[in-house]
Amino acid sequence: PRNAVRDSSGEVRLAGVGVEELAETYGTPLFVVDESDFRSRCADMVAAFGPYGRVHYASKAFLSSEIARWVDQEGLSLDVCSGGELTVALRAGFPPERIALHGNNKSVDELAMALDAGVGHIVLDSMVEIERLDQLAGARGLVADVLVRVTVGVEAHTHEFISTAHEDQKFGFALAGGVAMDAVRRVFATDNLRLVGLHSHIGSQIFDMDGFELAAHRVLGLLKEVVAEFGVDKTAQLSIVDLGGGLGISYLPEDDPLPIGDVAERLAEILRHESAAVGLPMPTLAVEPGRAIAGPGTVTLYRVGTVKDVTIGKNLSRRYVSIDGGMSDNIRTVLYQAEYDIRLVSRVSEAQAVVSRVVGKHCESGDIVIKDCWLPADLAPGDLVAVAATGAYCYSMSSRYNMAMRPAVVTVQDSSARLMLRRETIEDILSLEVSE
Ligand code: LLP
Repeated sequence: PRNAVRDSSGEVRLAGVGVEELAETYGTPLFVVDESDFRSRCADMVAAFGPYGRVHYASKAFLSSEIARWVDQEGLSLDVCSGGELTVALRAGFPPERIALHGNNKSVDELAMALDAGVGHIVLDSMVEIERLDQLAGARGLVADVLVRVTVGVEAHTHEFISTAHEDQKFGFALAGGVAMDAVRRVFATDNLRLVGLHSHIGSQIFDMDGFELAAHRVLGLLKEVVAEFGVDKTAQLSIVDLGGGLGISYLPEDDPLPIGDVAERLAEILRHESAAVGLPMPTLAVEPGRAIAGPGTVTLYRVGTVKDVTIGKNLSRRYVSIDGGMSDNIRTVLYQAEYDIRLVSRVSEAQAVVSRVVGKHCESGDIVIKDCWLPADLAPGDLVAVAATGAYCYSMSSRYNMAMRPAVVTVQDSSARLMLRRETIEDILSLEVSE
């Protein structure tokens, strides 16, 4: 995070708040969100992409009512992909006209909720959804603004589970075989849907500009086909080209995120050039970053519980450091072989660094948070460690495995801390039980 410093005693302070004080006040595991880091990344996105269009924060990365208010105050729009995310955003007072709804299998209730709330637009993902939404809008006497999500056939260089635009996956309408063009025709033929643009999302945690550029070219290629079939005047209503999220962040010191100003300029240039070539006005460039806004400014604090040197061969041992959380608050290592940086933060150690494996407290050996890292040889029970860049897809993918309680989330700003989400309690879990 931007505001982490080690003070003269060797303890780390996050936006001026000492980690021991945080751990003692709120317990561990603890997500610590640096508010000004989050807000400044929102502002950086708006500065980069604002001149060409707009930025939607992808709330799947991490959402709470307070996050929705920060995003609103920083002037961004919001992407939601479920009724739950939509409800949290609306109850937080997020302006519905700046919300977009995603999802490959939105329920009738979710579509109806979005229409009734008056969301800005809905991103269509299947033929059956076109008919479904048309009927729902018609029954309400509405015309709903929609985008068509296009699968552009780009192989994003990232983990298979988080790439979304190669052909063999569940999202969107394929460009290949004319499926996407067919979807455009069907939307045009409805009475209650207005096609306002095209959408593409190629994947997540991407460090390579080529995939984004190729996606932009291919989406514009479809726009050209639409012009050829329906003419410039009709096509001009497709004023939004949304190129999704996916900007990679630095989890390890050697990771090298794309400079967002350059990304914005190059994508805008493609849009400007290719739309002009077919006589269309320059479309609005929309993007949907989640990780790049929420990820870097949050750390998870854990207390070390045990340190065990396990013999794994002749004269060979591996150090296992057990922390008081694990795959229930960070499943990303298990699921995507994600890598994280971890530091001893409660004190400075002069001891030699030894290769260590950081594991959680759950009942399976796959419960690994960091597969290999360097930690001081004198690391001991009671020490506090921090895992960096856990703001995206950790809390939002958390689980209650082994009846773990979800950690608390606090925000730090100007040397003070505030609780954003309280820790779950056993009463929360028991409250789901129906006893007769
Ligand atoms: N837009 C759409 C349509 C998406 O599907 C996603 C992410 C985003 C935007 C935001 O992408 P971002 O800027 O955060 O990369 N759980 C995985 C990531 C799944 C991403 C799903 N969609 C992980 O922990 O890496």
